[in-house]
Amino acid sequence: MRDRFGREINYLRISVTRRCNFHCAYCGAAKSDARELTPEQFAAFAAAFARAGITKIRLTGGEPLIRDDIAEIAEAVRAAALPETLAITTNGFLLKEKAPALKQAGVDAVNISLDTLDPECFRRMTGRDALAAVLEGLETALAQGFKRVKVNAVLLRGVNDGDAERLAALARDYPLDVRFIELMPTGDGDDYQKRLIPSGELLARFPHLSPVPGEDGAAEYYAVEGYRGRIGLISPVSKKFCNDCSRIRLLADGQLKPCLGQKETYDLLPYLNEPDRLYEAICQCIRNKPAGHHFEKAQGLAPMNQIGG
Ligand code: 5AD
Ligand code: SF4
Repeated sequence: MRDRFGREINYLRISVTRRCNFHCAYCGAAKSDARELTPEQFAAFAAAFARAGITKIRLTGGEPLIRDDIAEIAEAVRAAALPETLAITTNGFLLKEKAPALKQAGVDAVNISLDTLDPECFRRMTGRDALAAVLEGLETALAQGFKRVKVNAVLLRGVNDGDAERLAALARDYPLDVRFIELMPTGDGDDYQKRLIPSGELLARFPHLSPVPGEDGAAEYYAVEGYRGRIGLISPVSKKFCNDCSRIRLLADGQLKPCLGQKETYDLLPYLNEPDRLYEAICQCIRNKPAGHHFEKAQGLAPMNQIGG
């Protein structure tokens, strides 16, 4: 359905947990033992969202694979909402172990967050010596035959920006897209301006990119001769895409968050056993979705582990 600005809202991101097994500084994740819904509860919500026009669902976190029942969640959500696409975003650490069950559960597409190919830099950025495990996870995901695998990287000036070319080359070596996401102001934003690398600056470093039309709203895609996948640039800061936003978010505890860049959340849990009221509440939240974020005014976000990117 459309919101009051005429935007078609058809993409639901479900954060299944706030917990994470990494500690990326830019994410601002803290330990969390907050309430988490069960697969059945996510499924009941997903059915109501489908009725309100949601056709694409992504499971996020925190780190979604940290939940032992992640495949059950995927299966239950798929069965309840019958989305055209069911995707998942993961840091990849547990992917080697869980990719087969996710494929079996009907997950179509996997996004892997990977910011560096240098083991030491990886350890510094995530707090874990886990690059090898993530790369094994990536290869396992590719071997499972998901419809689509993507790598998402956030570059931080002076930290991992020297890795852009090596990360991009993953799209040469594997049939996957590599997308660079501009740093958004989360967590403690002290040196945010210093760290942010605008997409334009990155683009200038890659002279061989030719623009190709992309099918997903947020990313601008480029082809490189001889590459199997594409390079994507996602520019929430330098090219605000709120006008084309199609998303809403369900948080792990049953709060609906209509906009990533705004604080407001709405508790849907009280309506869980009343499908009609739940549907009405969702429609009302969609209708009233805020116009967008105000990163340009340095207004920060909640930690990403709460809202799932
Ligand atoms: N800015 C941009 N992307 C972020 N992510 C986490 N925190 C930020 C941030 N401050 C990304 C992760 C992952 C996705 C879930 O969100 O790297 O790709
Ligand atoms: Fe975990 Fe993702 Fe936050 Fe990193 S960005 S700490 S992987 S939730």
